[in-house]
Amino acid sequence: MLSNKSIVFSAKNISKTFGGGKKITTAVNNVSFDIYDGEIISIVGGSGCGKSVLAKIMLGLYAPNKGKFHYNGKKITNLKKHWNDVQSVFQDPFSCFNQFFTIRSQLEDAFNILKKKPSKEEIKRRVDAGLLAVNVTPSDIEGKYSFELSGGQMQRMLLARIFALRPKVLIADEPTSMVDACVRANILDYLMKLKEELQMTIVFITHDIGLANYVSDRIFIMHDGMIVNSGTPEEVLDNTGETHTLKLLDDIPEVHKKEWIKNSHRSKNKEAG
Ligand SMILES: Nc1ncnc2c1ncn2[C@@H]1O[C@H](COP(=O)(O)OP(=O)(O)OP(=O)(O)O)[C@@H](O)[C@H]1O
Ligand SMILES: [Mg+2]
Repeated sequence: MLSNKSIVFSAKNISKTFGGGKKITTAVNNVSFDIYDGEIISIVGGSGCGKSVLAKIMLGLYAPNKGKFHYNGKKITNLKKHWNDVQSVFQDPFSCFNQFFTIRSQLEDAFNILKKKPSKEEIKRRVDAGLLAVNVTPSDIEGKYSFELSGGQMQRMLLARIFALRPKVLIADEPTSMVDACVRANILDYLMKLKEELQMTIVFITHDIGLANYVSDRIFIMHDGMIVNSGTPEEVLDNTGETHTLKLLDDIPEVHKKEWIKNSHRSKNKEAG
């Protein structure tokens, strides 16, 4: 089925190192993959395994030192053009908003990145729709600044921006890290809504293999800069002989493991019925 879809990102033996000599860090080590249009891919792995560096390569912020990395079959050369299509939600939402401007004005200014900027009215309408998509009443943030909102609310503002801008590809680097379990489940639902309603391609980066299992079409398990296991959630979880996958499964918090098992049962039943 996937072979009919076009390839969005293609990586062939890419590596990214920092420093040199004895102090060389290999953040991404000889990694190859294809990501297809409309997929949700999760990149899962422990701290320091290279997830964010890989995300930054996808955003064009780093170029690999070795190998070939293509977006839509071409090298990333023009960043402004690239960001027209590929947008991100990063770990710290506060760093993405300026505290001296209202949230609303920043959501509207985000449209400046687009090649074809919509009219003022259209921007206002799309910002409202983006806020409603993440269950925020637009009037509730009227005149508000980032420091007046909680971490969880700010993460929703980042997602509202994505719903408003509708990029082709979203790179979501642990967007759930600052929020509680209930809001977290909502955010995962928003990611799926972005995929279903806007056919967005999503790369979701997390430590949590349970969350990845819940949202992904395919999972890449990373360790030490390498992809050590990959495939559909079923394939990855069946391959539990793979040490690093096993370790990530052990790391899922108990409470949330129960929720995860329940959800995977639910989706399996849906498939069966
Ligand atoms: N700009 C940089 N200069 C030097 N080393 C870097 C740089 N960025 C990342 N690294 C190193 O590359 C490795 C991978 O980092 P990366 O940020 O991708 O990890 P991660 O998997 O995102 O971890 P976390 O889950 O903690 O966010 C780490 O050893 C890190 O110290
Ligand atoms: Mg990271």
